[in-house]
Amino acid sequence: MSLPKINPIETTAWKELSKHFTEIEHTHLRELFSEENERASNLSISWENFYLDYSKNRVTAETMQLLQNLAQEVRLSEAIKAQFDGSKINETENRAVSHTALRNFDAMPPEVRETLAKMAHFSEQVITETHVGYTGKPITDVVNVGIGGSHLGPNMVNEALQYYKNHLKVHFMSNVDGDHVSEILKKVDPETTLFVIVSKTFTTQETITNAKTVRAWFCKTSEEKHIDKHFVAVSTNLDAVASFGIAPANIFPMWDWVGGRFSLWSAVGLSICLGVGFQNFKAMLQGAHMMDVHFKEAPLEKNIPVVLGLLSVWYNNFFKAESEAVIPYTEYLRKLTSYLQQAVMESNGKQIDRNGKRVTYQTGTIVWGSTGTNAQHAFFQLLHQGTKLIPADFICFVESLYGDADHQNKLLANCLAQTEALMEGTPEHNNPSAFRNFEGNRPTNTLVIKKLSPKNLGSLLAMYEHKLFVQGIIWNIYSYDQWGVELGKKVAIDTLEAIEEKNRDMLHNSSTQALLRKILGN
Ligand code: F6P
Repeated sequence: MSLPKINPIETTAWKELSKHFTEIEHTHLRELFSEENERASNLSISWENFYLDYSKNRVTAETMQLLQNLAQEVRLSEAIKAQFDGSKINETENRAVSHTALRNFDAMPPEVRETLAKMAHFSEQVITETHVGYTGKPITDVVNVGIGGSHLGPNMVNEALQYYKNHLKVHFMSNVDGDHVSEILKKVDPETTLFVIVSKTFTTQETITNAKTVRAWFCKTSEEKHIDKHFVAVSTNLDAVASFGIAPANIFPMWDWVGGRFSLWSAVGLSICLGVGFQNFKAMLQGAHMMDVHFKEAPLEKNIPVVLGLLSVWYNNFFKAESEAVIPYTEYLRKLTSYLQQAVMESNGKQIDRNGKRVTYQTGTIVWGSTGTNAQHAFFQLLHQGTKLIPADFICFVESLYGDADHQNKLLANCLAQTEALMEGTPEHNNPSAFRNFEGNRPTNTLVIKKLSPKNLGSLLAMYEHKLFVQGIIWNIYSYDQWGVELGKKVAIDTLEAIEEKNRDMLHNSSTQALLRKILGN
């Protein structure tokens, strides 16, 4: 089954939404709240440990109905089914998109079950100090060497689940920047460090360069034969891993039906298992699976990822909002936006539709943000009084992990207060000065989650994965390829040759030539 290929702007719902938009674009949220007593409960969804309040959005019941009509006209339910059925919906790469199969314990492909068992066993051995370094000392440090999807997910989760962490220190080496590599190597000891080389393709310049550097560093003080105890790899490219010198027993496989930015649920999550233990990793997979079931089965109007995706399309395509902010009220989620930037922007930053034609509407929102309350003291001025409309997701947790009530009350008060202030603003007559005026009418979603547990984290991440899928379906683009990263990689290869040959004439562009002259001094 392939994905439907419907131009959204040619649907009846889109035309009706355009008309409806002109009717409500200037309506203030204050009015909407005063007209509808039950607004907060009408525009909210309770699901498991999640409560989504989307009442502070510039929508009415009619808006939501029209957005759902749009979802129906572009045949969203059929697309969801195609994804879960394992159809080759990544048509430009001729691949299925089955990261959800990695977390469905009831119907898990045997190779996935086997790999999970291997991850469980290996991480247990390292954590319990059964697997030791070549001099018999226990492993104290793990270095994940990988970039993009082979870094952002595991790094973000290791931070997010810091509370559940064991004694192993987990480091992340991603950038090809040699100073970054040196800084990490300065902190670790070859006798007690495990390197996890993660690359789906095992051809990525940054990762292979870094992996070779750390192998050479390791071999300076030890012998090649000890590599077995200190290097493992995660990849689909088993031959390339073998020629790098990592033994088959130390390879954790992944599959081409798992996209890099959706791969933290696969063996790419090995450094998560090492950092927090397999049971917590498994709980995260289970939480993600619960969200998968919700996404697959809940009616559109009560479906959290669907509602979030539709609201995002509403702002992107009708209000012409260019970006969205994500503001988690917990420091544990400080890496969430970097992770979401790859997930969302690599997926939906596309201009060719599923019919191979240039789109004539906007796609791909820019995602950014930072943790509250820090963000309040940084960029919130612009959210409150700037000229741009920036819809924002506020994420908070009912319970803190260490249980300090004073801090938690203040954290939650700030979260709730900000969404209210953004929405309400200040009625103009109260303000002595225009500079102190707040127009309000700034839309937000508030997601209240019971607690930052591995399970709830899994559900949260799956929620954003499905939201971006919904958007991609509506925009009629292919969300699961990433051809847009290829050109830069190719040009970098030619540029590297020119740098290594010290020959700027090998480059075509006069600006790049001038830059190289400055760098090479010739
Ligand atoms: O450059 C983008 C990308 O292809 C991502 O999609 C991917 O997550 C990343 O590079 C790393 O790729 P690999 O895991 O193959 O090294």
